[in-house]
Amino acid sequence: MSDNKGNYQADIHNAGYEQEYHEKLLDSAGLINTVGRETESLNGKWNFGVDLYDTCRRAHWHKDIQHNEAGMLAPVDYDWEAWERITVPASWNLERPELHYFEGSGIYTRTFRYIKQDKDERLFLRFEGSAYETSVFLNGEFVGTHDGSSTPFNADISGLVKTENRIVVAADARRSSLRVPMENTDWFNYGGIYRSVYLIRLPRVFIKDWFVRLVPNGTFSKINADILLDSDTAAGKALIEIPELGIRQEVSLQSGKASLGIPVKPGQLKLWSPETPKLYDVKISYIPSGTDAADTVSDRIGFREIKTKGAEIFLNGKKVFLKGVCLHEDHLTLGKTATEELIRSAIRDLKELHGNYFRLAHYPHDSRFAKIADEEGVLLWEEVPVYWAVAFDNPGTYKDAENQLAELILRDRNRASVIIWSVGNENADTEDRLSFMSNLAKKARSLDDSRLVSAACLINHDKLKIEDRLADSLDIIGINEYYGWYDPDFSKLPKILANSDPGKPVVICEFGGDARKGQRGSVDDLFTEDKQKRLYEQQIETFKQCAYIAGTTPWILYDFRCPRRLNRYQEGFNRKGLIDADRKTRKLAFYVMQEYYKEQ
Ligand code: GCU
Repeated sequence: MSDNKGNYQADIHNAGYEQEYHEKLLDSAGLINTVGRETESLNGKWNFGVDLYDTCRRAHWHKDIQHNEAGMLAPVDYDWEAWERITVPASWNLERPELHYFEGSGIYTRTFRYIKQDKDERLFLRFEGSAYETSVFLNGEFVGTHDGSSTPFNADISGLVKTENRIVVAADARRSSLRVPMENTDWFNYGGIYRSVYLIRLPRVFIKDWFVRLVPNGTFSKINADILLDSDTAAGKALIEIPELGIRQEVSLQSGKASLGIPVKPGQLKLWSPETPKLYDVKISYIPSGTDAADTVSDRIGFREIKTKGAEIFLNGKKVFLKGVCLHEDHLTLGKTATEELIRSAIRDLKELHGNYFRLAHYPHDSRFAKIADEEGVLLWEEVPVYWAVAFDNPGTYKDAENQLAELILRDRNRASVIIWSVGNENADTEDRLSFMSNLAKKARSLDDSRLVSAACLINHDKLKIEDRLADSLDIIGINEYYGWYDPDFSKLPKILANSDPGKPVVICEFGGDARKGQRGSVDDLFTEDKQKRLYEQQIETFKQCAYIAGTTPWILYDFRCPRRLNRYQEGFNRKGLIDADRKTRKLAFYVMQEYYKEQ
């Protein structure tokens, strides 16, 4: 297909073709809080084409130019309605056998009808998650591009939408040394629009975001609320109501935003906790002073305080031990696509372990996880995929990581279940990494003054000590250690713990070993359930001797797909699960962990 000058040659020689698609980013600056909003789903069957050479973006297929400048019909290389259809949301790898290992660019397209309901309404398009670089086109126009596989993004399409519309999306799942994560990870790189897509109608001036939380000052007597309109010139008032607390407070908007502190009588507030996951209905209204339409949003928010003191973690003033387990978004038939039932069954399995906490590794999980965890009383560690050796010296990589962190925090900071933001996992202690990740920690605190910041750090194996310069930027030091597995000399672990005096809570955020379900043998036979069980017993015995361990999350609840794991027991899976990938068969180590948490 020729470019819009009808010059076929221009496309195939344009090495810098991607530049134009990074001039309009759909990023955290435009992210809307959509909780409680009416949405119109675009999920379902979309036409789909495998675009191995990214030709759609090179040749501007989205412009749908069928004639050259002389008005003569020109051949095109795409055929929207003739393409086979694929499900949205879905990980394309599990939709068709030939797509199992596909990591390139997939082109999705569908039509949709839009009938305006209110003359001033605006229309937004929202993606909950699409891997990795997603370029969106509507009615022949480029809308914008989002980087990052696990965080939401939206676009204002008010000026582009018609009655009959065609949307085209190029989802490029390629791994790259400059992306976040980079090209080498210990999990399967699923591709596609794997989370929901929908439309949202909003007033001309609307409430873009809100953040309502208990002030963590140890008195449980003050709620802070920040309200932001999608306009920095709108005048008027904001009204916040929490009926069950008898709160109804107005505040004038300045430059489209307002912040207020709301006193709560001590003892009046039923604090949120795993034992009592109390949620309050919160309603926020925009009362314009001019002709703009009013807007109202509602949310269900739990109020709780999470703090550290010395080497201990306190929830609502009471010491808490984080009894958890790690979890990937990985399913035998759904890949990285989550469902409400999968989330609820994982929480049931955690509770069967007598756990109260999940480490959602290594990237932001589906937004429903934190909402359901709020209801079910589960504490969460949420993480951005600054995993292993990302390009710490590359400014574009930092911008991408910081944007994904901001999108995660803006999406979930009203969720009481989330207590920890993690800025990464297992990164060598270098100057570039220290600067990169301590800046991420600062960014997290600038967006949220009510939670703890952590990261999965590495032990200093030469000194046999917990020592990582990033720890100064963290509230909790996460430690991944595999003594008894990757390092068979288990005797090092107690020495390390005895040698260290971190002065902050340490959470052992990964330990474990592989076992194939049903594989039996001696406690020394690798990949047997007996070896895995023995390893857990040794680890737990050691944890019990260490006062500054404030929580544990063994790696991992379920076996998961992993292209790096190719021996006869793994067969393309990481087998460190306490439960097999079938999400049913519990291994012997499951019961060791269950016994430990039951005693806690
Ligand atoms: C690492 C890493 C995990 C990985 C695990 C393993 O610590 O954080 O993503 O799967 O170890 O080796 O199984």
